[in-house]
Amino acid sequence: MKSVLFAALLTATVAQAQDQQPVTIDLTAKGAPIASTMWGVFFEDINLGADGGIYAELIKNRSFEFYKPLMGWKTLGTQKKEGSFLVINRGLAAEKNPRFLRIQLNNAGAGTLGLENEGFRGMGLKEKLPYNFSCWYQLEGKAAILQLELLDETDQVIGKSSLQLPASSDWRKLETSLVSQTTSPKGKIRIWIEGDGQLDLDMISLFPTDTWKGRKGGLRADMVQMLADLKPGFVRFPGGCIVEGHELDTRYQWKKTVGPVEERQVIVNRWNTEFAHRSAPDYFQSFGLGFFEYFQMAEDIGAAPLPILNCGMACQFNTAELAPLDQLDTYIQDALDLIEFANGDISTQWGKLRAEMGHPLPFNLKYMGVGNENWGPQYVERLKLFTTALKAKHPEIEIISSAGPFSNGELFDYLNKELRALPADLIDEHYYRKPEWFLQNARRYDTYDRKGPKIFAGEYASHVEGNLQADKRNNWHAALSEAAFMTGLERNADIVRMASYAPLFAHIEGWQWNPDLIWVDNLQSVGSPSYYVQKLFSTNRGTNILTAVQAGQPLAGKDSLYVSSVWDETSKEVIVKMVNAGPVAVQLPIVFKGKPKQKGHIQVYTLHSDSLTASNSLTSPRLVAPIVSSMPVSKKDLKANLPPHSFVVYRIPMK
Ligand code: AHR
Repeated sequence: MKSVLFAALLTATVAQAQDQQPVTIDLTAKGAPIASTMWGVFFEDINLGADGGIYAELIKNRSFEFYKPLMGWKTLGTQKKEGSFLVINRGLAAEKNPRFLRIQLNNAGAGTLGLENEGFRGMGLKEKLPYNFSCWYQLEGKAAILQLELLDETDQVIGKSSLQLPASSDWRKLETSLVSQTTSPKGKIRIWIEGDGQLDLDMISLFPTDTWKGRKGGLRADMVQMLADLKPGFVRFPGGCIVEGHELDTRYQWKKTVGPVEERQVIVNRWNTEFAHRSAPDYFQSFGLGFFEYFQMAEDIGAAPLPILNCGMACQFNTAELAPLDQLDTYIQDALDLIEFANGDISTQWGKLRAEMGHPLPFNLKYMGVGNENWGPQYVERLKLFTTALKAKHPEIEIISSAGPFSNGELFDYLNKELRALPADLIDEHYYRKPEWFLQNARRYDTYDRKGPKIFAGEYASHVEGNLQADKRNNWHAALSEAAFMTGLERNADIVRMASYAPLFAHIEGWQWNPDLIWVDNLQSVGSPSYYVQKLFSTNRGTNILTAVQAGQPLAGKDSLYVSSVWDETSKEVIVKMVNAGPVAVQLPIVFKGKPKQKGHIQVYTLHSDSLTASNSLTSPRLVAPIVSSMPVSKKDLKANLPPHSFVVYRIPMK
């Protein structure tokens, strides 16, 4: 029904459409293959992307390691008569998880002494869903009981359970489950503690049971599903600036993110303090989503893993600390060991750990990034040392080198020259620019050296100016300009091997950076218009480039039109992507050179809005989303109907 209405509207618009000269698609020669990695995703723990986001843990500061040890927690009760709370720090004796909470219980009875955790901007609780509660404890005394209550946003109890803690002089883990009776987007948990003696608690945890693939302690299924739906060719992780750290001490170190979660050392998230106007004092990294989980998620969704590692340089926008060249061995060893962790035999040290974590088979790592947005001669010096060491042991791994934070200018030109001289395998270019830049740069790669390094458009997003309000920036104008630019990436897929929008996720109450591809609250996720642009490209990737020209030239901005075309060997279809960035409807004839026989129905995906400022929200998630229609293949020439401000994809079956 929707598509019939849409077709009627389209006919009305097309009545005043501008006729264009035909675009000729050459079917006589299949062009260069399009890499299976062409369209991927870039994950960084920014905007509560991991903790408070895709990592489904509901308890904030579960191990009391935030700067303020009780951040996120509230203690309940007299704290005198019934008992008291102390934060103990074991220091070097338990370096990875030094703090725990000691509770002195003085015959504490029902409802007298307790703890409450607020979650990350509340906890999303779902009706009838069981939740797994667990904690580590030791107890000097006879026994204690934890009375657990799930609360909704008005503090009504919506779920209950209890956990008996027998005396134990060693740390033990116990768990139970409790069901939420209703849905609450901003719930919390209250833990009443009853008993007598000295109780130590650590790693107090609450997970929903409907995680991705039902994994205990796993990831939020709705968020992973949003990624799976993109059918991404790769997952770049864990950043971004988070790789570099504000200083070297807080750089991302993958070895500290694997093994048992209670031994993954919590550190501050660099986005905690990065932007004064969006500070997030409660933003830390628990690394519950660590490198094993990243690899596993990439595998689950059929994407190649693409880790980016620190190269011995902290963020140059912050401290710009450098690891001296003669101390780079640790960093390089981390890179070599990561290859062993991902691909090594289970008899090796790191391969064994992977197997112990549940994945004896290799993760098939093929790419590794050295550095993120680093620049200058200091970067080149370090990159060369990494490259020599990595290529000597692992020539099979392709190395991704950073072209710095900017898309052109002095820093870019210097690196571009140096990296091409190396020669680098792949160069990681980033562009966060205005829509106009994206519209004007659809031919950026037409003139790149075809024999030089391949390109990874590792982070990009169109930024409309001025408005810091998230939903105002993730608008159709931005997305449309990205689509136009991406036709240029696709046309140049012989050298552009990978591309990913950035950043990926943002919590509506916890973001630092916008625009972002996917927005979430505690229960739901929504794709921005840019998400649907990405999806239309990645689910219509094709296998080979086809030449598509108008009067002998690629259509890349003339009359605000952009066209690219690919052949899909699997489905035997020609796929044409067309962007009309202008305000007038257009009829674009498509002519196939090579007189193919067509059959069946053409699938048409139209992404369009009358308003360039339109965006999607949790309440209107599909305001700008593709509308699918189909039409029979006709013997006559094909005329594509492009509404004003639209991105249209045709899939045309060929015999
Ligand atoms: O995507 C957000 C940030 O932008 C990344 O962390 C960084 O690489 C870039 O500057």
